[in-house]
Amino acid sequence: MLTIRQLVQYKQQNRKIVVLTAWDYPIARILDRAGVDIILVGDSLAMVALGHSSTLPLTLDAMIHHAQAVMRGVEKALVVVDLPFLTYQQDVSTAIASAGRVLKETGAGAVKLEGGHPHLIETVVRLVEIGIPVMGHVGLTPQSVKQLGFRQQGKTEVDRQRILAEALALEQAGAFSIVLEHIPADLAQEISEKLVIPTIGIGAGVHCDGQVLVTADLLGLSDQLPPFAKAYVDLRGAITAAVQAYQQDVRRVTDIEVD
Ligand code: KIV
Repeated sequence: MLTIRQLVQYKQQNRKIVVLTAWDYPIARILDRAGVDIILVGDSLAMVALGHSSTLPLTLDAMIHHAQAVMRGVEKALVVVDLPFLTYQQDVSTAIASAGRVLKETGAGAVKLEGGHPHLIETVVRLVEIGIPVMGHVGLTPQSVKQLGFRQQGKTEVDRQRILAEALALEQAGAFSIVLEHIPADLAQEISEKLVIPTIGIGAGVHCDGQVLVTADLLGLSDQLPPFAKAYVDLRGAITAAVQAYQQDVRRVTDIEVD
């Protein structure tokens, strides 16, 4: 399994880090065998796979259930699991209990949590102290959608400084990597240059130390593609064509065997 220490070496060697999301066994197995570095059991699960309008309704039990399936398909990649909304923000002991359950019940390598407010920094320090690797996530943080919307962050000078300070504080607290979501490319570049730990960008330009995409977006399965995402194949079209071909066969009752 890829280790968090190796990830920092990748940054030093200028080797870009490839991250994709997975929520189930078959996709996790394909990604792992294809050589993806990190598989993120992201809470985008709530919207993309479960049909919610935000990530907020996702429970820790559901996340653990999906992470267990992912882990069964992975041999090499580092698996990182998102802590769902309100499973870590309240206080340090809630965060320890949630992150501890994720590591104990799934065998994953790390957790990810959103934001960089001082109270959260204290939580990251405690988690790292007790041996739970933490990936940070700043910029557009979907668990704050009611406050931020899904808009690009870091457009004003004040906001830029806040995001930079959050990233630096997360590194100081012991995070091993940070996702930078939907922020201007020059800000992501500045953060990536200032940090020793690797940054993983999504909608944050090419200067991050790695990139993450939601796999359903990459495969062309999502209803609506975010402005910064790219579909590398049209699986929606391919699935529709296959289903229609099957329908025709069934209705003709010619080309398939029926017992
Ligand atoms: O939940 C998720 O998939 C994420 C990525 C978009 C970074 O957090």
